[in-house]
Formats: sequence, C-alpha cells, structure tokens
Amino acid sequence: MNAGVSLEHNFSMLLLKLFVVLACFHECLSDPQVHHKGYMLTGRATGDFVPKITPTASPQPFLPLLAPSPLSTFTNSTSPKLSGLCMLNFTAAQSLISITSIDCWAAFAPLLANVICCPQLHATLVILVGQLSKETGVLALNRTLAKPCLSDIEQVLAGQGAGDGLNQVCSIHSSNLTEASCPVKDVDEFENMVNSSELLASCEKIDPVKECCDQVCQGAISDAATRLALKASDPLSMDGPHVLPQHTTRINDCKTVVLRWLASKLDPYHAKEVLRGLTNCNVNKVCPLVFPNMKHVANSCGNGISDQTACCDAMNSYVSHLQKQTLITNLQALDCATSLGLKLQKYNITKDVYSLCHISLKDFSLQVGSQESGCLLPSLPSDATLDKFSGISFICDLNDNIPAQWPSLSLLPASSCNKTIRIPALPAATNAQSGLNTEYILVYLLVAYSTAIMMLL
Ligand SMILES: *[C@@H]1O[C@H](CO)[C@@H](O)[C@H](O)[C@H]1NC(C)=O
Ligand SMILES: *[C@@H]1O[C@H](CO)[C@@H](O)[C@H](O)[C@H]1NC(C)=O
Ligand SMILES: *[C@@H]1O[C@H](CO)[C@@H](O)[C@H](O)[C@H]1NC(C)=O
Ligand SMILES: *[C@@H]1O[C@H](CO)[C@@H](O)[C@H](O)[C@H]1NC(C)=O
Ligand SMILES: *[C@@H]1O[C@H](CO)[C@@H](O)[C@H](O)[C@H]1NC(C)=O
Ligand SMILES: *[C@@H]1O[C@H](CO)[C@@H](O)[C@H](O)[C@H]1NC(C)=O
Ligand SMILES: *[C@@H]1O[C@H](CO)[C@@H](O)[C@H](O)[C@H]1NC(C)=O
Repeated sequence: MNAGVSLEHNFSMLLLKLFVVLACFHECLSDPQVHHKGYMLTGRATGDFVPKITPTASPQPFLPLLAPSPLSTFTNSTSPKLSGLCMLNFTAAQSLISITSIDCWAAFAPLLANVICCPQLHATLVILVGQLSKETGVLALNRTLAKPCLSDIEQVLAGQGAGDGLNQVCSIHSSNLTEASCPVKDVDEFENMVNSSELLASCEKIDPVKECCDQVCQGAISDAATRLALKASDPLSMDGPHVLPQHTTRINDCKTVVLRWLASKLDPYHAKEVLRGLTNCNVNKVCPLVFPNMKHVANSCGNGISDQTACCDAMNSYVSHLQKQTLITNLQALDCATSLGLKLQKYNITKDVYSLCHISLKDFSLQVGSQESGCLLPSLPSDATLDKFSGISFICDLNDNIPAQWPSLSLLPASSCNKTIRIPALPAATNAQSGLNTEYILVYLLVAYSTAIMMLL
C-alpha cells in the first residue's frame, strides 16, 4: 500500500493529507478513532510499569487516566549531592536538564534510550561543556574534572527523576567530557583553524528533515573536525583528500569538540534543537532491534511454506519477541523490516511472509496496553512530557498501519534519504522547527486527518 506513496521533502499540508489518505485508506473508515491516540506510560514502582493507551477522539491528546496515587512521585525533586569540583553551570542549563530528566525518566529510560533519552543526554553534555567554554576558553574538561562532573550530571538528573545508571544505558564515559584524542581544544586555536563563520552559518539553523540528506551542517562539521584532527599528523596529508583509517577515531573525537563550539555560539534551546536534529539523522538509519535466532521461523516458513498457519504462528511469535525491546521510529521500523526480511531470505524464505501474515511496521515496535497496539515514534520525535497527574507521555506516529515491506532486489535499500520519502516526518518536523508544543501537533494532525476523511467521502 505504501509503495506508491511518495512525499517531497518540503512538507505541505496537502502532502500530509495525501499521505494520511493513502496510509489509512483501509483502517480509517472502519474506525477513525483508533488512529488518534495519546500514549502514556504511567509509572508506579520502578521496574513495574504498565504502558497504557488512551484512545482519544478529541484534540485533548493526553487523557489523565488512572493517575498513580502518590502524585508526589512525579514532582519530588531531591537535592543532588554534588562533588563541589565541577564548575559546569547547571543553573544556566536548568530547562535543558529538566527536559533531559523527563526524556530519561526512571524506569522508562531504557525504552526511550535509543531514540529520545540518549540523544538528549548527549546533547546535554555537549551543551554544558560548550557553555562552560565561554568562560574558560577551552572546549573540553580536563581528565581530572571529567569524572566528578559526569557524576554530578547524573546526580542532578537523578534528582529530577531520571533513571539511575544513565551512563550505562547510554554508554557515557567520563572521556566523553574531555577532548579525548582530538588535538585541538582551545577556542582561539579552534577559530584559527576552522572557518568558523561558515561553520556557524551552516549549522546555526538546520532543517531537521532536509539536513539528513543534504548534510549541509554535517558536512561542515566533518570538514572542521577533519581539519582539527589532521593537526597532529603529517602536514603534507592536509593537502590530500584521503583520510587514513587511524584518523577516524580522532576525527570523531574532534566532531564532539566542534559540536561544543557550536553549542557555545547558540543558546541552549537552539543548540539542543540542532544537536537532536543531527542525531536523528543517524538514529533513523539503523534498526536498533536485536534479532533473536530465527530457526523456528525458518523451519515453519522455509521451502515454499507448506503450512501457512504454522508459518504465521511462528512469524507472529518471533515478532512478539521483537516487540518487547524498545520504542523505535517509523523510519527505524522500515529499516527493521528490511533487515529481518533479508535475514529470512538467507534462510531460503522466498515468499513475502509479511503480507502472508499481515505484518505491519508497527509490529516491530514496543506494544503498549492490552489492546496490543504498536507505537511508532515519529522520525523526528519530540521530547517526552511529564504531567504530574498522568505521568510520562510521548507522541506516537499516527500513520502506523503501514504494511511491512518485504525487501526485494529492485527496492533495495529502502533509503529514506531520497527525493521521495515514504514516511512523513512532518509532525515532529513542525515541532522541532517552530517549537510548537505537543498538543498543537496533535491538533494539527487531527485537522489533517479529518480533512483526509472528508476527502475520502
Ligand atoms: C518527597 O519529598 C518529601 C519531602 O522531601 C519526602 O518526605 C517524600 O518521601 C518524598 N516522596 C517520594 C516519593 O520520594
Ligand atoms: C550560572 O548561570 C546563571 C544564569 O545564566 C548565572 O546567573 C550564574 O552567575 C552562573 N554561575 C556561575 C558560577 O557562573
Ligand atoms: C583541570 O582544570 C582545573 C580547572 O580549570 C584546574 O584547576 C586543574 O589544575 C586542571 N587539572 C589538570 C590536570 O590540568
Ligand atoms: C564516549 O566515549 C567512548 C570512548 O571513551 C566512545 O566510544 C563513545 O562513542 C563516546 N560517546 C559519545 C556520544 O561521544
Ligand atoms: C569562510 O567561508 C566563507 C564561505 O564559504 C568564505 O566566503 C570565506 O572567505 C571563508 N573565510 C576564510 C577565512 O577562509
Ligand atoms: C538454502 O537453499 C540452498 C539450495 O536450495 C541450500 O544449499 C542452502 O543450504 C539453504 N540454506 C538454508 C539456510 O537452509
Ligand atoms: C531514490 O530512489 C530511487 C527509486 O527507489 C532510486 O532509483 C534512486 O537511486 C534513489 N536515489 C538515491 C539518492 O538514493
């Protein structure tokens, strides 16, 4: 169904409507209301969370249902015990810190880790160090300070409700606050080596959708990082277009330094938008799911599929394991469908078992609530929100009833970075660019959605 849908990158209302019409051609008419959902995770005790779905028909996106009894669990801020050594200014980044602690809220952090929590935590580290450089003139913490500072950051976030052990969840080390192997960390030296006005012009504002393909800012960051990284090597290689493999680590470390410099030139809010936009480009390229052994599916579905029921049972059981892992974006779901399809094909499953067994993209996502409905995050996910009555909420993509596409040689790879894109990133793109709050997004979508229905009638 989705194969024929293509959208230009510059989203317009019309294109969204078009997509909605096509995407929910079957489903919307039968039950228009199930397409508009606010999802919320309601926290009780750590480790015991029951994600709930709230089907809503009105533009009121997050119904405060079943508020957990001591509301204080959502509002208590404990005073963090700080090392006293770290001079990062947590006060100046207060709103950033509170967004991060909600994105990484308690027991939900692992579920949101890949798409929302860790990207936001990484952005926070970059911004904190970047802001500090305005005073110190250095785009890194030294090794002595990195450890206590990382610990302080964790304490500050945990004090506002974030989960413990975020550095494990997000693989953060104290070296992520230093210059690591990048040979340049002083602001003055940086600005002498890099065309900083060009860098700033390319990155001070990014279009989170176009950037992933045009790579205007990413290209400028790579150029700058490569320049910095090559300082330590043979000066002759500065002229060459080739970067030796041993340089890649150094270039990556220098990219972090470049990001900190950018963050020092922008206010924390805009820096966060830019950094998250850049991270999203990478997040959406990779399926984060771990595929367990598929021998059982192979046995039931291989060699021409003699027993369709057995095959689909095996397939459904397999997919249900994937559904316990993590929340993913719609574009990640496309990646996951392709990856799984290719793996199954390696097991000689040649028939399209996705269409045979009605596997859809949202089947790859964490299932929420007793209705067993998938929630795909938009490709440009907005931050989670915290309501002291209803808990943690986040937005799921409405266009989530899209059949998974069986990979075929002619359609490989399903690159979202093309002049056509099958899944619209509009909801969050609007969010990221204009700073509309989530309610507006849902209202906006609802309008588009109703119009789509009217166009069908
Ligand atoms: C919230 O804070 C108050 C006062 O600091 C404390 O008595 C209470 O136990 C805390 N509640 C939770 C759930 O931590
Ligand atoms: C931290 O930032 C706040 C607000 O920008 C400012 O008032 C305060 O003086 C700063 N503190 C330090 C130690 O620089
Ligand atoms: C690390 O930085 C702090 C503050 O700038 C400074 O006091 C300290 O001496 C530095 N340590 C090292 C090992 O350079
Ligand atoms: C953090 O540092 C480790 C190595 O110390 C590196 O592998 C990892 O990519 C870094 N993470 C980020 C977000 O820079
Ligand atoms: C920086 O880049 C801009 C735009 O590409 C260019 O006009 C300018 O001359 C460059 N400045 C330096 C110092 O290279
Ligand atoms: C797939 O089929 C080929 C030829 O029919 C066979 O050689 C190969 O072992 C099979 N692979 C698997 C994983 O069953
Ligand atoms: C875009 O997609 C079309 C059709 O799927 C393909 O032929 C083309 O090579 C793709 N372009 C890029 C830049 O990936």
